[in-house]
Amino acid sequence: MSLLSALSLVCGLMLHVSFSALNTHYCVPRKTVPYQNELKSFSEEGIFNYSTMLMRDDLGVVLLGAREAIYALDINNISVRKAAVYWRVTEEKQRECTYKGKHAEVECRNYIRNLHRVNDTTMYVCGTNAFSPTCDYMTFANGQLRLEGKQEEGKGKCPFDPFQRYSSLMVGNDLYSATSINFLGSEPVVLRSSDLALRTEFKSSWLSEPNFVYMDFVGESFDNPDGDDDKVYLFFSENAMEYDFYRKVAVSRVARVCKGDMGGQRTLQRKWTSFLKARLDCSLPEPSLPPIVQDVFLLKHRDWTKSVFYAVFTPQSSLSQASAVCAYSVSAIRDIFNEGKFKTPVAVETSHVKWVMYTGEVPVPRPGACINSVARKMGMNRSLDLPDKTLQFIRDRPLMDEAVRPLTGGPLLVKRGPLLTRIVVDSVLALDGQRYDVMFIGTENGYVQKAVNYAGEMFIIEEIQLFENPVPISTLRLSSSKGQLYAGSDFGAIQMPVSNCSRYDTCVDCILARDPYCAWDFTTEQCSPVYGFSSSSNTAIQSLKEGNVSQCPQPDPVAAVDFTLVPENNIQLPCQLHSNLAQVRWRFADQTLHSNNKYYIYSGGLLILSASESDAGLYTCDSVEQINGRTYNRTVVVYQLQLYSGPGVGDSTPSGNEVIDYSDSIYGQTTAAPELVTKSDSEDPLSPENQSDTSRVTRLEVAVGLLSLLCLSLMGVIFWIWSQGRWECFKLAQRSSESEGKRQSAEYMHIPNRTSEIKLLGPESGRPCSANNNHSTVDFKGNGEHHFTPMANISSLDGLGYINDESEI
Ligand SMILES: *[C@@H]1O[C@H](CO)[C@@H](O)[C@H](O)[C@H]1NC(C)=O
Ligand SMILES: *[C@@H]1O[C@H](CO)[C@@H](O)[C@H](O)[C@H]1NC(C)=O
Repeated sequence: MSLLSALSLVCGLMLHVSFSALNTHYCVPRKTVPYQNELKSFSEEGIFNYSTMLMRDDLGVVLLGAREAIYALDINNISVRKAAVYWRVTEEKQRECTYKGKHAEVECRNYIRNLHRVNDTTMYVCGTNAFSPTCDYMTFANGQLRLEGKQEEGKGKCPFDPFQRYSSLMVGNDLYSATSINFLGSEPVVLRSSDLALRTEFKSSWLSEPNFVYMDFVGESFDNPDGDDDKVYLFFSENAMEYDFYRKVAVSRVARVCKGDMGGQRTLQRKWTSFLKARLDCSLPEPSLPPIVQDVFLLKHRDWTKSVFYAVFTPQSSLSQASAVCAYSVSAIRDIFNEGKFKTPVAVETSHVKWVMYTGEVPVPRPGACINSVARKMGMNRSLDLPDKTLQFIRDRPLMDEAVRPLTGGPLLVKRGPLLTRIVVDSVLALDGQRYDVMFIGTENGYVQKAVNYAGEMFIIEEIQLFENPVPISTLRLSSSKGQLYAGSDFGAIQMPVSNCSRYDTCVDCILARDPYCAWDFTTEQCSPVYGFSSSSNTAIQSLKEGNVSQCPQPDPVAAVDFTLVPENNIQLPCQLHSNLAQVRWRFADQTLHSNNKYYIYSGGLLILSASESDAGLYTCDSVEQINGRTYNRTVVVYQLQLYSGPGVGDSTPSGNEVIDYSDSIYGQTTAAPELVTKSDSEDPLSPENQSDTSRVTRLEVAVGLLSLLCLSLMGVIFWIWSQGRWECFKLAQRSSESEGKRQSAEYMHIPNRTSEIKLLGPESGRPCSANNNHSTVDFKGNGEHHFTPMANISSLDGLGYINDESEI
């Protein structure tokens, strides 16, 4: 019996996989912005765990909770500290905590966990307080933060264990919290602390070893035709009860309660009468156990039925490495709770319980429903008036039969490598008068990924490194009005603008970036923030869905840079692309060059090995970028190679001529190289961040490349490591098969097996350093096939089936 159901679960997963894989693709962030020192940040010596944030636009501050400290930071510049208050554990508390077997310096401290607005001047704060959760009121007045010292019991409001996930929300004067209520962390509750406190039943059918991640409020009573109540939604993961698997399987859930719930009269006294939960579906395109929800953001719409929850998921088994983002509409969740079928437990064999769809009669008023017009018509105006039949039904059956499906049928984004941790979403009004939802997703290695969905096509505008060290982003907050994003980690908090249009120097770059925050301004000839223009304005352009650059002024032809050719020497011609999505194309005498034993195309340019007289002539480096099936070719740099005739080998002349020679110092040459690119690149000067990133790589590559051909394989390893930090994503839209090849090569980057990578990258393979998508010399184009699984891709490519990614099992 259970073997059968285990099989059916696995098969179900497999089926699901092959279906969702049908319309997914890989992609990479278009730009990678390395760490910038000039971002505004905050941290205090000796203080860690900056993980709780409360935005107070009204007071002009961000309240930041850390370990034993709370700060009020200037919302415009969080490096400006307006006030601080310290809340340390007492020695006595710490001693008690260590007696109970907890670590004095790690667990027996006070981690600030809840920070909520009460009124204009007052906040409610809770801390773990050495495994003895405590809450207090805090005021911010006259530039001072002050704890009232009221020290209320924090049990059920704040976790005991600082490592345990929790969630809380203030609605009016009521605190909703989801955490464990005991020292051991074994008694989870969803609690409302108010004049009429309510909680969940201690039953595993209600909550089974949950991990709470997020709560938010939806004002559903507004203009509601059914006279329905406002709701609090809760997202968490817990042990599945609906799967009959040989081991514990976790599932992601959404649950909700009604704001007006007062509990039952006899049954469910002081317990929720409206606690309903459903499984959240977010299927990954590879066989795996259900992914686990990690964070959620509610993108609110004036019409609440159009509000959308965006959720980040990570894998629960180490077999898979893919994180995902799925979006769920509030109305889809509402429909399942208000109209869906219930699950019910049935006893099978002796001790075993199985959850199946309930097909019997459902009592009226509907179990779990808020007090609405139907109930009121029956003379029931409070949950206390509900009949026992309704209450008993819901007490025993809080789980809905159907799972909540994502808005788009599947994930909006799937990404391998560093896991996704947190998400916020901004709704941006673009020049075309439409709103676009821009997602900012934090990662476990200190990056934020900025992505947007254009009519089904998932596009990652850029990935931005926020923290110098690869630390997980533990908090993300957004101020749409300020256009700022705030991130917290164990070591500090940082602030970044939602966009930096000045990163794009030319019209073409500005349009191809497809950033809804940015438009090309014809009057100032700058890439500028879009809010400065009205939608009817014709002084600015954007082309978000198409990336159409036809309205941009024709760029001036790129002037050729003179280069001197010394026979028998190796020659390095630098060329930097502006986009991770572009491929490089080198042309010489009307021929496209490929890496072989004469040419070596690497991320920073072209290396001509042991040049001869016949190599003199015009070399062109083009960037070839695919956008929505269209190809954009741009010449990045042109070199005129002239045969050397005269003394002074190795001198570089002021005109920028470079002679590459074995006798030259490798470092001397390579430091000069990136400068040369900038000078010659009149069409599209490199953005500084791109330069510093790539010049570092260039230096490495060239140094190694010049030493010997054998070292080429070593570079493969360097690149492999470098590329591990990169991202991939799936996108929902079908693209032309022409662009397929690009993604396949991008997929290659994530190959954990280093030895086979080296084999692949040997010079004799004719495609050195193909491991980088930036300048992919591996050309898989034109096979015209759609492959349904990553595995199929790999085995079909040039017989390189030995590449073997464990995540693709
Ligand atoms: C707090 O930060 C320190 C320093 O990184 C880290 O070791 C510890 O795990 C963090 N504690 C919690 C509860 O996150
Ligand atoms: C804010 O709330 C606190 C705590 O409930 C209360 O003592 C204070 O009077 C309130 N202040 C205002 C201005 O309403």
